Amino acid sequence: MIKETLEKIKSEAQARIKDSANLEDLNDVRVKFLGKKGELTAVLKGMKDVAAEERPKVGAVVNEAREEIEEALNNARLALEKSVMENKLKNEKIDVTLPAKKPILGHRHPNQIALEEIERIFIGLGYEVVEGPEVERDYYNFEALNIPADHPAKDEQDTFYITDDILLRTQTSGTQVHEMEKGRLPIRMISPGRVFRSDEVDATHSPSFHQVEGLLIDKEVSFSDLKGTLAEFAKELFGADTKVKFRPHHFPFTEPSAEMDVSCFKCGGKGCRFCKGEGWIEILGCGMVHPHVLEMSKIDPLQYKGFAFGVGLERIALLKYEIDDMRLLYENDERFLKQF
Ligand code: DAH
Repeated sequence: MIKETLEKIKSEAQARIKDSANLEDLNDVRVKFLGKKGELTAVLKGMKDVAAEERPKVGAVVNEAREEIEEALNNARLALEKSVMENKLKNEKIDVTLPAKKPILGHRHPNQIALEEIERIFIGLGYEVVEGPEVERDYYNFEALNIPADHPAKDEQDTFYITDDILLRTQTSGTQVHEMEKGRLPIRMISPGRVFRSDEVDATHSPSFHQVEGLLIDKEVSFSDLKGTLAEFAKELFGADTKVKFRPHHFPFTEPSAEMDVSCFKCGGKGCRFCKGEGWIEILGCGMVHPHVLEMSKIDPLQYKGFAFGVGLERIALLKYEIDDMRLLYENDERFLKQF
């Protein structure tokens, strides 16, 4: 009776094992026949009805059946695993004769190219490159630069304030103050970085752009040092024939102050479409550091003098690479960037 039941269970199990298409199916078979509530277990539980002297014999046949089913399950599992692996090897074949995939490299941004050029020039003149914070105290952005409380630049229309005292810097000139406060003289530094102004976006404006600040402080510094340095800078940047011209201007932190123009590097100064017929192109602001600015940073203006300048990095990039719309610089379109 038990023997018949066992034969039936075995052949049913074998049939189901054969039908199993994957490892999950096989596992179901294992549970159905060998599990705690499985059919073979049920037979074992029925042993209590078997006469005591028959039990070892019956137990042995049940175990035999169990081992047979287990073996069949194992063989089926190995076969399935093998075919899964073979399929994988077949489908994931690597063709080593295919050409290699080239990694897509980005491209240096025109701003970055211009910046590296500017840094190269000033490092060559013995300047150090330093960085200042983009989030700045009012004191560093305005007050220590001699910009009084009622100055129009301090208007909320122009400046992004975080609190009354903390703002996004509107110029890199604050780095001058940080450097002067360190008390290490003389100073020869340029400081590139991002600045922020509450401007609408158009072809020449953006609420965020970049400047490069310059500062030199030493004994015996005069306006002719400023002129010589910036004339050299212009020649390196725009070509050896470049001439410079200084026009009087006003900045609160320099006295005297000037704006520097360079002769148009397209027409050589004759006047063309590029320089709007002027022959000259404005490129930076500069001047002799105001004695009060030195004093506020604990530098004795009777012993030390200095000059400073500020260049718009985008302005240089637009001019040098003849880009006519500043917005192109911020779109990060590779087709554009790759041209430089
Ligand atoms: N910070 C000025 C600006 O944003 C640029 C500038 C002009 C910086 C003259 C200077 C300077 O250091 O001497 O317009």
